[in-house]
Amino acid sequence: MPGAIHAEGLVKTFGDVRALDGVDLDVPEGTVLGLLGPNGAGKTTAVRVLTTLLRPDSGRAVVAGVDVLKHPNEVRRSIGLSGQFAAVDEYLTGRENLHMVGQLYQMSSRAAKARAGELLERFHLADAADRPAKTYSGGMRRRLDLAAALVVSPPVMFMDEPTTGLDPRNRQQLWDVIQELVAGGTTLLLTTQYLEEADHLAHDICVVDHGKVIARGTSDQLKLRTGGERVEVVVHRPDMIDPARAVLAGFGKGEVAVETHTRKLTVPVAGGAKLLAEVIRELDSRGVEIDDIGLRRPTLDDVFISLTGHTAELAEEGDGDSTAAGGGGERGQGPKEAVK
Ligand SMILES: Nc1ncnc2c1ncn2[C@@H]1O[C@H](COP(=O)(O)OP(=O)(O)O)[C@@H](O)[C@H]1O
Ligand SMILES: [Mg+2]
Repeated sequence: MPGAIHAEGLVKTFGDVRALDGVDLDVPEGTVLGLLGPNGAGKTTAVRVLTTLLRPDSGRAVVAGVDVLKHPNEVRRSIGLSGQFAAVDEYLTGRENLHMVGQLYQMSSRAAKARAGELLERFHLADAADRPAKTYSGGMRRRLDLAAALVVSPPVMFMDEPTTGLDPRNRQQLWDVIQELVAGGTTLLLTTQYLEEADHLAHDICVVDHGKVIARGTSDQLKLRTGGERVEVVVHRPDMIDPARAVLAGFGKGEVAVETHTRKLTVPVAGGAKLLAEVIRELDSRGVEIDDIGLRRPTLDDVFISLTGHTAELAEEGDGDSTAAGGGGERGQGPKEAVK
């Protein structure tokens, strides 16, 4: 049985760019799919196709049991959309924005007002409810955007990079809200540039690059493919690099990478904290002094290097308006795109 979101062979080209190059997706009801990829991978294009905003050149998609190309209006009634091109009106207050969305969905004015009040509370926006959205911080705006997508409690939700550029506290708050939502039975397709975010929120992950799904699986499966966790060691003196390398090679599941000028060695491992303790003992017994040691999980870059042989940044070539993948800082959300 097809899932709540099902897509087959989606292709969308913009001139020479194959933004979607044959994408298949299946999201079982009540689960979260994380679409993980760098800038320019095709994530937003996929979301726009699935939310009826853009027609693919070929392929088919079914959302909430309805054919996206044949019955877009019907699909729109079953979905909520939040993210990079969502429509918060800067000049309206938070409350007015939510009220307006409710009315667009043909709720009575009274029901829309009640729903707006509820959502403003839930998203910690009650104090700012009667200020224009343009006075909101980045985090508040994201919360308003998400609230707007929830006015009608849709069974299927799409979120396009909901936390890109947010600080850790705001990101965590949004994650909490998203998890609450999913616990309530919503099916969610979420795009992100952060493995950590997909890890935290998604049941299944599709890694996309250049319009293609290049890997799919649970986060554990992907991490195993990427070589799992890494041990990172900074030794105290340059002459300790070689003995440290020998120790790490004995524990590692892959090559030991050495960065000479920082005296840092990194090796993929399987075994977690227990293994870390053994590594420390072994380094100690060989007289290797360490300045720093830790376990770190693979980053998006590790996943990309392992899957594609290039970093996320390289994948952006030719994509003029993008910022570095994983970059911090509040990012402009670009002009509102026309509905095609
Ligand atoms: N409206 C458009 N016109 C021309 N090119 C586009 C348009 N939308 C997206 N693209 C191109 O398609 C590719 C995928 O873009 P997008 O889906 O926005 O990627 P992502 O959301 O993963 O960053 C990029 O190379 C982008 O420049
Ligand atoms: Mg995008």
